[in-house]
Amino acid sequence: MIVRHEQPADRPRIFELVAEAFAAPAGSGADGAAGGAGEPAEVGLLAQLFDGADYLPALSLVAERDGRVDGHVICTRGWIDGFRAVGLGPLAVSPDAQREGVGIALMEAVIAGAEAEGEPAILLLGSTEYYPRFGFVPASSLGIQAPDLAWGENFMALPLASFHSGIRGPFRYAAPFNNL
Ligand SMILES: CC(C)(COP(=O)(O)OP(=O)(O)OC[C@H]1O[C@@H](n2cnc3c(N)ncnc32)[C@H](O)[C@@H]1OP(=O)(O)O)[C@@H](O)C(=O)NCCC(=O)NCCS
Repeated sequence: MIVRHEQPADRPRIFELVAEAFAAPAGSGADGAAGGAGEPAEVGLLAQLFDGADYLPALSLVAERDGRVDGHVICTRGWIDGFRAVGLGPLAVSPDAQREGVGIALMEAVIAGAEAEGEPAILLLGSTEYYPRFGFVPASSLGIQAPDLAWGENFMALPLASFHSGIRGPFRYAAPFNNL
């Protein structure tokens, strides 16, 4: 497996795998409903993030195996009460490639990349089953508030080497997240 920066030629495959990864289960009632032809909201979000001013190309990575892109992660600029930080997501792995270590490889690479960039912290909304293995903790335990307090412990933070206790307060994602 190779984890590398995404290239323009990767975009069609990235949108395809993100659509598949976030597709509503058939018969759930959420498929084919609002949003246009059942396209998951993450696809439109990703398109806006790619085109937005807060896109961080150094932290947009793909995992490639046997010449096929099987997973993607994107990060965008966010802010913790005036301190810069990284907002992570969406992270997606093609359904036919899940549970084979692709997501873990992408997460480890993007965390190392953010550390190398001198970023103080990574914030995300996600599963409390998945992200603690990388060191993520509830953001509230660091004094960082989610944009929506209802997210509770699913809004998580990974403090990096340059993090310090003065970095606290409300977190603000890149603008496209407000359109969800
Ligand atoms: C979540 C996701 C990125 C994980 O990537 P992956 O390549 O499948 O996972 P990995 O192989 O790297 O890690 C496997 C381990 O992660 C855990 N895991 C995988 N998917 C999980 C999920 N959806 N929720 C909680 N834990 C999960 C399991 O413990 C698994 O270990 P196991 O197979 O021994 O039980 C991928 O399943 C995916 O794209 N899902 C759909 C989209 C999504 O939910 N994105 C993340 C939003 S938080």
